Amino acid sequence: MDFSITELINAAHKCLVLCGVKSGDMVVIWTDARTDTEFNQAFFGAALSLDAELLMVVGTRTVRPNVPPPDIALDLLKKADIVLDCASSPWMYTPEYASILKLGVPILHCGANRKEDLMNRIPTREMGENVKMITQFLTGKKVRITSDIGTDLEVVEPGRPWSYFVGYIERPDHLYDSLPGGVTALYPKVGTVSGTAVVDGIMQAPWPGVVPEAPVKFTIKESRIIKIEGGNDAKNAEAFFESFNDPNVHLFAHLCFGLDPRIGKAVATIEAEAREGQITIAFGSSILPMGGGDVAAKIHCDMLLMDADMIVDDQLIIDKGKILYEKLK
Ligand SMILES: [Fe+2]
Repeated sequence: MDFSITELINAAHKCLVLCGVKSGDMVVIWTDARTDTEFNQAFFGAALSLDAELLMVVGTRTVRPNVPPPDIALDLLKKADIVLDCASSPWMYTPEYASILKLGVPILHCGANRKEDLMNRIPTREMGENVKMITQFLTGKKVRITSDIGTDLEVVEPGRPWSYFVGYIERPDHLYDSLPGGVTALYPKVGTVSGTAVVDGIMQAPWPGVVPEAPVKFTIKESRIIKIEGGNDAKNAEAFFESFNDPNVHLFAHLCFGLDPRIGKAVATIEAEAREGQITIAFGSSILPMGGGDVAAKIHCDMLLMDADMIVDDQLIIDKGKILYEKLK
């Protein structure tokens, strides 16, 4: 479906209002030659309508994920009141991203630059408050993920609070978020995750992602992948990880689940991470200050576990991809 620029500006405007963008704020948009021009223009127009000061910095096409902008652009981003990250490839798990956030500069990662996500999944305060409430409920509890096809993964000691993504930032404490949001995530301390994860949804290894023909089984010991088994997709995933020559790409980065009821079951892209009840795990870099992760790696790969269960403190809260909301109170 195609959307007019007027409709896109309207959606971007609602997002920026939720982020508290106001008259006189210095808004810096970081984007590149691969991002849809209308997507960039939507945020430019929205910020303009709020009477903000604006700077759009356009780099060359980002050919690989997890690569930061050049220093000259980083210097500009560090001086913003808010950064809108519209880059075509994600780089939020880089030390450079963390360094901007640590300066107190908020960053809204504007999703995968897909117009349909912007239009169909505008964040709302109501959904945001719901995600935050569930995040609080989960914090401090033991977590186990299981599935009928063999996943049995345990976080023996979470060590950190859960974090959340609601699609808007809230100064001064919630400086990073990812549009469209609707996700709660745990970045467990290194060494605390063991078991097996059998991946049957899209996995970002190799990048940008593949739905495996046969499920791929990851054996994890004290947060590190020690074995990858399955068909050709398992071999390809292993070769992809090895290609970085970086031991940290094998480390467990986060687990999370989606809380957005607006994403249909048929969505098989990585955006399905936010689908209500969808459990996702990730390996590689976890260096995002708000989640507490502290491992820098050359890649961050999300992997979807379809129809999986989540048990917290011996209580089933997600049953085959369905959230049991009555248990989350
Ligand atoms: Fe992730």
